[in-house]
Amino acid sequence: MEIIVVPNPDAVGEFAAHRISTLIEQKPDAVLGVATGSSPVPTYEALERTVRDGLDVSRVNAFALDEYVGLREGHPQSYAEVVRRDVTERLGLDPDRVHVPSGHADDVPAACVDYERQIREAGGVDLQILGIGSNGHIGFNEPSSSLSGRTRVKTLTPKTRADNARFFDDDLSQVPTHCITQGIGTILDAGVALLVATGESKADAVAAMAEGPVGAFCPATALQWHRRAVVVVDEAAASRLKNREYYDFVRDNRPEWQL
Ligand code: GLP
Repeated sequence: MEIIVVPNPDAVGEFAAHRISTLIEQKPDAVLGVATGSSPVPTYEALERTVRDGLDVSRVNAFALDEYVGLREGHPQSYAEVVRRDVTERLGLDPDRVHVPSGHADDVPAACVDYERQIREAGGVDLQILGIGSNGHIGFNEPSSSLSGRTRVKTLTPKTRADNARFFDDDLSQVPTHCITQGIGTILDAGVALLVATGESKADAVAAMAEGPVGAFCPATALQWHRRAVVVVDEAAASRLKNREYYDFVRDNRPEWQL
């Protein structure tokens, strides 16, 4: 796991966006895995600037990580809508190339299986953008999730529902209890896993993910098994990392040829 500590959320966004735009330059029809939540917003903002400066994203494909189950189609907090606003429209992606699991399908389990098929048929995810929940979840793979699971329905923990109540007028009763999420196994298949985290509230989860033992109680620890996991964090989110000096040494002594 490569851990890059930068001063603030904007610098996290700049760093992550540079990695993503480099991939798109090399592979104009790249398949991105896109995350929702507040953490990747500076990344999308920085990427938007690169697009304005001429990066061609017309052939980029995107697959969202997760979706709530049970929100009506078009609900402003459904991830389909969040992805449309924060990613598709902001970056000017072709909407036909952007995919979100269907949380209102008649047969939700079948929609999960179909989502895995769509990812496979697109050639797999080249780069998966990830945030991390304060309880160590990635996507919506909550503590105790299978570390080899695929896209499926999960039950949200009280902690995640409370964290996300801010998007639902601080009314817990409006927060769905269930979701569809790519599994850890799906996420581990991505060519690169690029996780961004900012703020003190993520410091424990980041330290557990990077330096704790691998285990289902912090699902993000599964990224220790990923061949190309890149973790970009600001000072606050990095504040409980024990091995900080080494990470900075690696960052500052990166060979020129290494992306
Ligand atoms: C949400 C999403 C995750 C996201 C995480 C952190 O519940 N399902 O994909 O990474 O929680 O969100 P935020 O970045 O807003 O803290």
